[in-house]
Amino acid sequence: MFYLLHVILLTYLSNNLYSAAESSNRGEKNGQELLLCRKCGADVADSFYIFSKPSPGARKTEKQNLFGKQNVTVQTLINPFGVKFEVVTMEKARCDNIGPQQGADSWFPGFTWRICACPHCGQHLGWTFESSDKREKDHINSFHGLILANVLGENCKCFIV
Ligand SMILES: *[C@@H]1O[C@H](CO)[C@@H](O)[C@H](O)[C@H]1NC(C)=O
Ligand SMILES: [Zn+2]
Repeated sequence: MFYLLHVILLTYLSNNLYSAAESSNRGEKNGQELLLCRKCGADVADSFYIFSKPSPGARKTEKQNLFGKQNVTVQTLINPFGVKFEVVTMEKARCDNIGPQQGADSWFPGFTWRICACPHCGQHLGWTFESSDKREKDHINSFHGLILANVLGENCKCFIV
């Protein structure tokens, strides 16, 4: 019963997050999972919005089966301090974007970056990448890179730390 309520609540929340138009073309629900903040459990993204956006600076790129999806592109990105992050790129995520847009040291040329923090607890989840380039109709103007170590799938049988 609690589980059912949980699912209903999560469904309700995620339907509110994304517009009705978007949710109508989200297709079948099969295998889709919500991604949760590993620190507080808040629903921060939907695996439906995972997409592949290779960084030319990636140390390593591999395909993994994650969050109910096959062949998810996981990139190992390294910041100027030498810290490694395993990152998945998402077209949409719930982020509190922190600070001004930074142009330097972007992993994605043409995109500035800001810290993406959990809107519920402030945990660092990853980054939001933004571009002001509107030349191409299908050009993506913003996306997110989420740190795998800082999120978990809703079906993960793991403890929230
Ligand atoms: C994932 O990759 C494997 C191996 O390349 C391929 O056979 C399979 O069809 C792919 N699955 C999807 C959903 O793209
Ligand atoms: Zn959180």
